[in-house]
Amino acid sequence: MPILYDAGAQTLTIHTLRTTWQMKVMHHGILVHTYYGPRCEGDMSYALQYLDRGFSGNPFDAGMDRTVSCDALPQEYPCEGSGDYRRTAFGVRDAQGVSGCDLRYAGHRILPGKYSLPGMPAVYADDEEAQTLEVTLRDERLSLEVKLLYGVLPAHDCITRTAVVTNRGGAVLTLENAASTCVDVVRTDLDRIVFHGKHTMERQPERTPVSHGELLLGSRRGTSSHHMNPFTVLCEHEATEQSGLALGVGLLWSGSFSGSIGADTYGATRLLLGIQNERFNYELRPGECFTAPEALMVLSAEGLTGMSQRLHDVVRKHIVRGPWRDAERPILINNWEATYMNFTGEKLLSIARRAKELGVEMMVLDDGWFGRRNDDHDGLGDWTVNEAKLGCSMKELAKKIQDMGLRFGLWIEPEMVNMASDLYREHPDWAYVIPGKPPVRSRDQLLLDFSREEVVDSIYSRINAVISGCGIDYIKMDMNRSVHDVYTVTRGLQSQGKVLYRYVLGVYDFMQRLLDANPELLIEGCSGGGGRFDLGMLYYTPQIWTSDNTDPIERLRIQYGTSFCYPVCAMGAHVSVSPNEATGRVTPLSVRGAVAMAGTFGYELDLNLLPDAEKEEVRRQIVTFRGLRRLTLEGDYYRLTDCVTDRDASAWMIVSKDRSEALLTWVTRDVHDNMAVLPIRARGLDPEAVYEDEATGESWTGAALMYQGVIIPRHRGEYSVRQYHLLRR
Ligand code: DGJ
Repeated sequence: MPILYDAGAQTLTIHTLRTTWQMKVMHHGILVHTYYGPRCEGDMSYALQYLDRGFSGNPFDAGMDRTVSCDALPQEYPCEGSGDYRRTAFGVRDAQGVSGCDLRYAGHRILPGKYSLPGMPAVYADDEEAQTLEVTLRDERLSLEVKLLYGVLPAHDCITRTAVVTNRGGAVLTLENAASTCVDVVRTDLDRIVFHGKHTMERQPERTPVSHGELLLGSRRGTSSHHMNPFTVLCEHEATEQSGLALGVGLLWSGSFSGSIGADTYGATRLLLGIQNERFNYELRPGECFTAPEALMVLSAEGLTGMSQRLHDVVRKHIVRGPWRDAERPILINNWEATYMNFTGEKLLSIARRAKELGVEMMVLDDGWFGRRNDDHDGLGDWTVNEAKLGCSMKELAKKIQDMGLRFGLWIEPEMVNMASDLYREHPDWAYVIPGKPPVRSRDQLLLDFSREEVVDSIYSRINAVISGCGIDYIKMDMNRSVHDVYTVTRGLQSQGKVLYRYVLGVYDFMQRLLDANPELLIEGCSGGGGRFDLGMLYYTPQIWTSDNTDPIERLRIQYGTSFCYPVCAMGAHVSVSPNEATGRVTPLSVRGAVAMAGTFGYELDLNLLPDAEKEEVRRQIVTFRGLRRLTLEGDYYRLTDCVTDRDASAWMIVSKDRSEALLTWVTRDVHDNMAVLPIRARGLDPEAVYEDEATGESWTGAALMYQGVIIPRHRGEYSVRQYHLLRR
């Protein structure tokens, strides 16, 4: 059993296949954290140092013993008021506005299977694959109970955490903070990696040493955001792709979040991650409870690759759900970069016809099909089909496309409204606007108050009428601004933290209802590209549009950063035109194709406009990707170069679990005269086996490919590509 309680030592130990997490109930019921690392047996608390530390206070019930201090000992769930002066995981104010609580151990239960969180995304597993530990903490004065939940998936070295806070008293309490996880490790020789970015350049890794100045990460945008992903890595200084300890911590949450990583004065590092604590002020009425979003932790002693591969497996098998979890995703064509909102039904059909002829499997109609939506100033919220523009009903258009043998998908942006819309004119109070304050507009749109059930209900009914009514196969669910001017007319829901929390639950409810009503529906998440690319969304949307940036050379960096947490089969990636619409960069179709194959693969252009030779190349690309699709859905991913420091070329690899098949791709990014030799060393192959490149028939041993590598030939001109589809003989 992965979870063990030792009554004598008062330890609670969580074992996964290769890792161990341990906590201990100390005298006075203080829950200290004793270990997180490679698998170890026994009571790890021998390493704790009990010292009289000046200015680190002691719990009252320790009497004259000045060696017990929450400020100096690693904590399992540190709270404000316990004497821990570091940044803490939890804080609460009583009805008088006084902060300060004192959480002590009150019991625990070890339960079969993995807990779930109603209405919220959570890792799931069969009962025989997982176990749950529930530790109850209590503050007697406040009549407050905090249940710490740990889900353990031993095979994946995965531990999930959340906290469920219940007000058991008769007075209103206000939560100031309730983080999802805290990791206290007694060492500071560590690095932290955050994934920052912006619109069209998401998830850029930045690695810095842990220092006494805390690094704060987070989003205050109401979404997980382009700007900082709710995923971070804590690793040894010497950790590389192939070796060293690396811990990945992510949040299954699509709203604002807060995190911090920093060293304390006594040689420990604290990592915190959870919902946004700034302006949180979540009112908890008597009997009410708050559930923190789930955090997921995966630790690997085999470096960053081991960490990523375990995360990918958890995402693919224990977060993504439904019929699309294990199914090959359709190769799609999307009309956005081909037409923007300037299309007719005939134009769409001509794109679809050509796409079908070249082998595409699904046509997606993007923004502009509803209301008076011909530019981005108008129509959002009016989910009635613009039949005049299409020249037919949506049902007819869907039928024509489906009759060609294509699936048919639609774009939606349910959380938004333009002021120039019938919806806004009818329900101005449904939008987030602070009375008397002109709202901040972004892309000329406002947010609908999805914290209100009646708003979600109404938008759901309008949109589902089109989806269910027209037999739509796929939805691209977009979200094109950050949240602002948060104000709700719902009485008693005024605190910003509560509104934003309920907003995200409203979005989850919307998607769940769509899936319940249309069980075969494939939803692709999107927020101006990858502005809501997070583990929470993946519970509802098996794939997410990675970025609005479709320049393949820029995509190399974006997809590289994204791969630290998220698998290839979650990354929406399309071939678009050259020169690229946004950057103007000219790239060969071969490069664009190979980069999109490190994702869900599709096209975002008018294939009719390509010269015949390129049309034939598209046909070949589609055949190639069909042959690789299962591998990209299930294989182990390897980053072969560092996209931040290796400027000349980028390379990656996907290897099947049984090592019988692999795809190795390199793309050159920079060109030099008299250039150095560029070897790319494969990984993850069977060294004894002989692998043959499907296209050329060349063969090598796995050992040769891994230790000698393949050599990028000297070339002239930028941007060349080579894909090796390696099959074990
Ligand atoms: C932003 C998305 O990321 C694009 O792909 C496109 O769907 C536009 N929105 C449509 O408005």
